[in-house]
Amino acid sequence: MAENEHQVEVIHSWSATGSLSTTLMYSFAQRDDTEVLDEPLYANFLRVTGIDRPYREELLSKTESDGNKAVKDIIFGPGRKKYRFCKHLAKQRVEGLTNDLMKGKHFILIQNPLDILTSFDKVVPPSFFELGFSLLVCIYNELCEMGKPPPVIDAAELQEDPEGTLRILCDELEISFQPTMLKWEAGPKPIDGLWSTWCYKTVHQSTGFEPPRKYPKPFPFSLYELLEQSLPLYNMLRRHVKRKSSLLSSPLPPPDLPVPANEKLLAWVGDEMLTRESAEVSVFDSVVQGGDSVWEGLRVYNGKIFKLEEHLDRLFDSAKALAFENVPTLDELKEAIFTTLIRNGMFDNAHIRLSLTRGKKVTSGMSPAFNLYGCTLIVLPEWKPPVYDNTHGIVLVTATIRRNSPNNLDSKIHHNNLLNNILAKIEGNNAKADDAIMLDKDGYVSETNATNIFIVKKGRVLTPHADYCLPGITRATVMDLVVKEKFTLEERRISLSEVHTADEIWTTGTMGELSPVVKVDGRTIGNGEVGPVTKALQAAYKKLTEESGLPIPTYLES
Ligand SMILES: Cc1ncc(COP(=O)(O)O)c(C=O)c1O
Repeated sequence: MAENEHQVEVIHSWSATGSLSTTLMYSFAQRDDTEVLDEPLYANFLRVTGIDRPYREELLSKTESDGNKAVKDIIFGPGRKKYRFCKHLAKQRVEGLTNDLMKGKHFILIQNPLDILTSFDKVVPPSFFELGFSLLVCIYNELCEMGKPPPVIDAAELQEDPEGTLRILCDELEISFQPTMLKWEAGPKPIDGLWSTWCYKTVHQSTGFEPPRKYPKPFPFSLYELLEQSLPLYNMLRRHVKRKSSLLSSPLPPPDLPVPANEKLLAWVGDEMLTRESAEVSVFDSVVQGGDSVWEGLRVYNGKIFKLEEHLDRLFDSAKALAFENVPTLDELKEAIFTTLIRNGMFDNAHIRLSLTRGKKVTSGMSPAFNLYGCTLIVLPEWKPPVYDNTHGIVLVTATIRRNSPNNLDSKIHHNNLLNNILAKIEGNNAKADDAIMLDKDGYVSETNATNIFIVKKGRVLTPHADYCLPGITRATVMDLVVKEKFTLEERRISLSEVHTADEIWTTGTMGELSPVVKVDGRTIGNGEVGPVTKALQAAYKKLTEESGLPIPTYLES
């Protein structure tokens, strides 16, 4: 060790090609406690890969091309300052390099491949390997496995808010921020790698972090495939940008999930099993373009799917009524449902939102003639405890918006065009009620925004005809149970005052099961407690869900 030299703390910057990494190196070079190294593993990279560059021979002869020597003597060699900032491109982490390289502090600098590819260096022809996103993800994961997840910063944020982003980075690296990091002189610098004459023309003009262009340059579509390959990897890393600067972060804090276990789930979309974050449908899909889709809610009890056949029958009827074409077969639907539940290990206390859209369109527009890809199937499973308070009961109000009539949209089609019900639900939310009753066009009770409705008066159980309401599968099940439990059942028009003066009321639906109603429009129902008929039917329904249903295949085998 020479005089004044000592062991330094190494800070490694890892990025894809062209990710503002040289600008950031200039910024760190302005610190009074930091020396910088410009790609100390570049010569090793050229030697090992055999890749050609106009400056290949010069670089190999003038700099250390044995990567392990570079790690030991140059990157971790003694120095005069406290810190040594090493700019690395992820692709330079080639096979054979010592693991000692992973010592020290590390961070990952990412940039949207849309921006990288638009201004790709002319010296290096763009390729997936040269971009280095896959290796960047490897480095991120390796550091996480070593128990030191690296901070991730986005070049766009450095440009938008240099000081805020540098402060966040310094904080995460546990070094103090120095205001000198924001300005430097234009022109070539002694710290530049010897390839700078070929590659640093633009960065030499900089005297700080340049603000981003207001509008980007057009994307060169010859690089579309590279974009398709790199964008998911960039987005994956972007999710790990911990503290976004105020300019680019969402104004809303990340919400809590009603059931935290649903943060990690697998959903079926089209013909793929996808993670929660990536489970998306196309912007060309009919469900996006027009709510043009049909759906079912399914519940899983004790290794079995309750009333699966009935739900699939209704799904096929809805699809037929809407003239869907290229609908999957019954077996295909069942396979997708079973596979999704098994993959998630969901055999009880789970719910599936099953949607079948008319599918992707070849161009945006209303006509089903544009739907040439076949239907899109979505199987979205979630852990779902009961959604209503079925022990103490719920409160309803009557909405002013009327339930669709068969004159405009037949409620026998279980479609995703739910705005009619959503408007009623908004009225319910505004009144701080659990749900809202919807009347038909003549002012008779139809159902709630999400469930069917039953009332009890003097021992008789009444429910509206399914003219305006959805003919619910739980409704049909409960109607059978009413008869089996020897109560008198009547399906007829029900007026609102009959609801207000009922002895008991409950709602039915797959998601919420049988939910007692204790108050409607401020009127207490019965004595305000769950009544005996409701309790008897809740018990009968519970027994049925435990005993019947279609078994999930592997649940039986295991
Ligand atoms: C408006 C409406 N009514 C009633 C129901 C209950 O139907 P089911 O018992 O078939 O789940 C639903 C559920 O999808 C619904 O959306």
